[in-house]
Amino acid sequence: MQRWQVTRYGLDGLERTRGTVPEPGPGQVLVKLRAASLNYRDLLIVGDGMGMPLGLPFTPGSDGCGEVVAAGAGVTRWRPGDVVINTFWSDWWDGARPAHSVPAGAPGPGVLATHAVLGEHDLVSAPRTWTAAQASLLPCAGLTAWTALVENGALRAGQTVLIQGTGGVALFGLQLAAMHGARAVVVTSSAAKRDRVLALGASHAVLRSEADWPARVRGWTEGRGVDHVLDTAGGDSFGASVELLAPGGRVAAIGMLAGTDLRLPFYPTIINRATVQGVGVGHRRSLEELVRAVEARPFEPVVDATFPFEQVPQALETVREGAFGKVVVTMS
Ligand SMILES: NC(=O)c1ccc[n+]([C@@H]2O[C@H](COP(=O)([O-])OP(=O)(O)OC[C@H]3O[C@@H](n4cnc5c(N)ncnc54)[C@H](OP(=O)(O)O)[C@@H]3O)[C@@H](O)[C@H]2O)c1
Repeated sequence: MQRWQVTRYGLDGLERTRGTVPEPGPGQVLVKLRAASLNYRDLLIVGDGMGMPLGLPFTPGSDGCGEVVAAGAGVTRWRPGDVVINTFWSDWWDGARPAHSVPAGAPGPGVLATHAVLGEHDLVSAPRTWTAAQASLLPCAGLTAWTALVENGALRAGQTVLIQGTGGVALFGLQLAAMHGARAVVVTSSAAKRDRVLALGASHAVLRSEADWPARVRGWTEGRGVDHVLDTAGGDSFGASVELLAPGGRVAAIGMLAGTDLRLPFYPTIINRATVQGVGVGHRRSLEELVRAVEARPFEPVVDATFPFEQVPQALETVREGAFGKVVVTMS
């Protein structure tokens, strides 16, 4: 088998190594991976471990899809031949996340490998209607947008969703909004990306560089404001997210592409009865519901670029440059 390992922090510290295929222990399964998708988190993990005390070397990658090839003693949920995706968090099935739960791809087992041994409870059936590459988009990016809008947000038809950026979480948000009959407004960095999100079904799109973008978004809602914000940016625009809320609206605090300091404007928070809720990807029950939803209401998830397994560093460079949707690595 082969795996990518972080031997020292930085993209040039990634090494592709060979070893023997591991045996699954009790309660574990061996998955032969077909595809993995990359997240902004992978850049941070490879860059400096995100401040976690990780032992080097380790295998990164939190979102994979593959086939079960062997099951350890006592495994009841899976058989060889099953096509599965992993959960982002270990042992988080529903409700509150257990204290011992860890993310895949540091400190949990990473999926940027040809094979991975995973706990039988940390897997979900892949959507039957999607390829392995498409299914690999769900564990982090897809589920984060689903948790924010559907699990926590109870998104419904006729509502308006404001989305920051056109990355993996953002474009899943756009497509889940369409699935639920909601309108999406996207804030992006370039005219080319603006045109692409409009073609994908966004009701409106605006450039972040245009100082009056919040006023234009409010105008599009006829002054009412938006019901949901997928805030992948944090930093200075977070206040604008709250100011743009319709009464009773909610902001999902997801990312920190623009900064980790979040400031709330007092009066709009009070007057709009704003809800600000942090999102930490989501649990297995939500991932299972997301899989059922994409089977029932098919759509084509947005993949910006696909790289062979040998080119993981190049794939991560594409994430760093600011992908439109997702970047995928295929194993076979
Ligand atoms: N809390 C959670 O559960 C969770 C889960 C997943 C991700 N995240 C976080 O959410 C963020 C997005 O993750 P991702 O994996 O979707 O990233 P990604 O796919 O790498 O997204 C990149 C896109 O973000 C946009 N962007 C870049 N700088 C921006 C800025 N200053 N303000 C707004 N948008 C900006 C760009 O789109 P445009 O060029 O169109 O602006 C870029 O194409 C990251 O901070 C990540 O760590 C959090």
